[in-house]
Amino acid sequence: MTAPLLRVKGLRRHYASGGGLFGRARYVTRAVDDVSFAVMPGETLGLVGESGSGKSTTGRLVMGLEEPDAGRVVFDGTDLTSLSASRRKPFRQRMQIVFQDPYAALNPRMRVGDFVEEPLLVHGVEAGPDRVAALFRTVGLDPAFMQRYPHEFSGGQRQRIGIARAIALRPQFLVADEPITALDVSIQAQIVNLFQDLQESMGLALLFIAHDLSMVRYLCSRVAVMLRGRIVEMGPTEAVFGDARHPYTKALLSAVPIPDPAQERGRRRLAFDAGGYVFPPDAALRDTGDGHYVLMGEAA
Ligand SMILES: Nc1ncnc2c1ncn2[C@@H]1O[C@H](COP(=O)(O)OP(=O)(O)OP(=O)(O)O)[C@@H](O)[C@H]1O
Ligand SMILES: [Mg+2]
Repeated sequence: MTAPLLRVKGLRRHYASGGGLFGRARYVTRAVDDVSFAVMPGETLGLVGESGSGKSTTGRLVMGLEEPDAGRVVFDGTDLTSLSASRRKPFRQRMQIVFQDPYAALNPRMRVGDFVEEPLLVHGVEAGPDRVAALFRTVGLDPAFMQRYPHEFSGGQRQRIGIARAIALRPQFLVADEPITALDVSIQAQIVNLFQDLQESMGLALLFIAHDLSMVRYLCSRVAVMLRGRIVEMGPTEAVFGDARHPYTKALLSAVPIPDPAQERGRRRLAFDAGGYVFPPDAALRDTGDGHYVLMGEAA
């Protein structure tokens, strides 16, 4: 059996807020609470859940952009959470992140070719126009565009530029945090197809954070559903979509529009009161068989 590329164990990140100058914090947001999962080499794990459920925080913790309060992030057998910044540097090459808003990530005064080349120069890896041109071709952009500036590109092209930079160092693992949410619907499928191509050609493992369940179903072999900082259901995509066990997952799935108008009219949306749902202190993800995990709470 192959070992997981990434293992996340008991990850926790709580944010305190609302306290006065010397006072104690009044509110604690449990952004990420006891989150554990694994990603195999070349595997695509989808992470879904409503706004504020902790998806981006999970992505940032995995990338080391933020420190967890508890838990471990183990990459290829090495516990990253215990490493100093300098010892972590080699792992920065092997793990990369792509964000939702490609324009915010791009430097408006930098030629896009230089932007894609930058990580190669920073890490002292072979750079140069040929290498950059190859990266442009890989993401479906004409290398003639290398000399242009970000404002000359469409949203989808900018996301391709962001992806070219992210794969420049040939990472094994990519976090994609809502990479298609800001794009026109007509462009979304093209970018999802690009991720699929890269996953196949580079053996890239992906943590794909998304709102759009149909894209996750198409792209991801496994999916994890987050609710209020917890993973409440996780398993093979077809098992979770076809045989959802958690009431929250069922509610999410019932909200996905059906392309057939006749079926769509008969669609029943299930209600789920996320705010009134509590997890018992000993709540844990349990394997219900075939790697399909569920964590049950109860309506308060
Ligand atoms: N730096 C921070 N300081 C305080 N609270 C934060 C911080 N970052 C996130 N939070 C809170 O943590 C919770 C989880 O946020 P997070 O951004 O991870 O959610 P998300 O699932 O990515 O949501 P979205 O779908 O809107 O992107 C939210 O309640 C958010 O307000
Ligand atoms: Mg987010």
